[in-house]
Parts: sequence; C-alpha cells; structure tokens
Amino acid sequence: EMIHEISGLSNIEETLQKYLGINKVKVIPGDIESDNTVLKEMGRIAANYIKSLIEDNYIIAVTGGSSVAQVVENFPKINKNNLLVIPARGGIGRIVETQASTLASKLALRIGAGYKLLHVPDNLSRDALETMLNEPDIKDTVEKISKSNILIFGIGRADEMAKRRGLSDDEINELLQKGAVAEAFGCYFNKAGEIIYKTPTMTLDFEDVKNIEHIIAIAGGKSKAQAVEAVKTKNPNMVLVTDEGCALELLKLK
Ligand code: F6P
Repeated sequence: EMIHEISGLSNIEETLQKYLGINKVKVIPGDIESDNTVLKEMGRIAANYIKSLIEDNYIIAVTGGSSVAQVVENFPKINKNNLLVIPARGGIGRIVETQASTLASKLALRIGAGYKLLHVPDNLSRDALETMLNEPDIKDTVEKISKSNILIFGIGRADEMAKRRGLSDDEINELLQKGAVAEAFGCYFNKAGEIIYKTPTMTLDFEDVKNIEHIIAIAGGKSKAQAVEAVKTKNPNMVLVTDEGCALELLKLK
C-alpha cells in the first residue's frame, strides 16, 4: 500500500515536471490547508534537497513567507565553507518584506554562513527609497541576489498577497481585473505567467533571477494551484516542492 502510494506520487511528479517545463517536482503527501504537519514536512523535504545542492562559496537567497520559514526551521546542519545568505526580497519598505531578512539571518546561523541584510526603515518616501537603493551597501546586496547560486522562494495567490502587502481596495480590484492570479517576489503574474504588476520599489524581477542555477519554489495547498501554475517559468533551473493537495489540483489545470 505504502509503495503503491509512493509510486502514485512519483507519477504525478513526473507528469507535473513535464507540464510545468521545469527541472524537478517533489510532492509531499497531504495538504497544508487541512493538516499543518504537512507544511513542516514540505519544509523539511525541501531543506534536505537544498542541502544536497550546496557547495563551498555558494550564495543563497531567500524570500519571506510561511513556506520558506519552514525550510529554514528544518534545515539540517551542513559542513561547507564560505557560504552567504541574503534576503531575496524584491521591494523594500514594507513590513511584510522584513521577514526575508529575518529568515536569511536564521538560515545563516543554522548553516554557519555569513549574511547580509536589507534593513531599510518602513514608510520612507519614494525618493528616500530610491536614494537608499543607491547606497553602496544596499546596492551590493541587491546585486548579489541575481548572482546567487540558489534561490529559495514562496508563491502566493495574488488576492491574498495584495491584501497582506497592504494595497488599497482600488489597487486590489485593478490587479484582479487585469487577471493577476499569483505573486512571487513582489511581482504579480497573470494566468499566462506574464508579470502584470511590480511593487513600485521593486529592485528585481523574474527576468533578473531566471538564470540562477537552482531556483527552488516552495508552495502547497489546493487553493494555490492556479498561482503555482502561473509562476511556471518553463525554467529548466527550477524545482518545485509542493504538496499532494496542490499537485492534484495542478493536474486538473493541465
Ligand atoms: O511575502 C513573501 C512571500 O514569499 C511572497 O512573495 C509570497 O507570495 C508569499 O510570501 C508566500 O507566503 P506563504 O508561503 O506564507 O504562503
């Protein structure tokens, strides 16, 4: 029975890998939306996989979100030299974005890496933000994001993330009218995977990161399938770690 279940999931993994046009799909049994032990397991499996990729001198970039948080929380000890962890947040100035920095420092502590943070005060004016982005130290960190060897990121539903990021009702409606279904990195994607809106203070977008060697997305839950599908980049460097709930729903979109 167990073996049967495992081979069932590996068929799904293969089907989805081909459908999404990416390097690998890993599916964890269950659904994070109905069982909160699944989120932890998804993080643990992703963390162990990522561990196997890490080599000396690697730069690892992380976004915020509860899925990436579980990767960090469950990261095993490793024995590599001269690692650097940085926050891969796209924009600066919003409270929800500060989590990427927290996760970067936590991961760095766990794996004995150095880290760089993007600490920028909230509620700065647009001009002040732009000035800060040109500060050498901040500029350096932002540039390192696209030079990283591994990128670990979460994917959210556009409607949920627009709310979490504090957009106004008008802005949210406009986004949804334009067909936004997914959010990653402060970029909003439509069903076709096109970026239709970028958070104004965004410093990078998917174009800047698509050549990173290992791009690892962690996103599960039945209701996220459409979002995950939209961020499909047909990118051969991308790996998706998801759960059965999201995977089964993704198959229906096929
Ligand atoms: O806010 C950071 C972020 O990575 C978003 O870009 C993404 O949409 C979201 O978190 C995913 O969050 P969660 O893993 O909690 O669903």
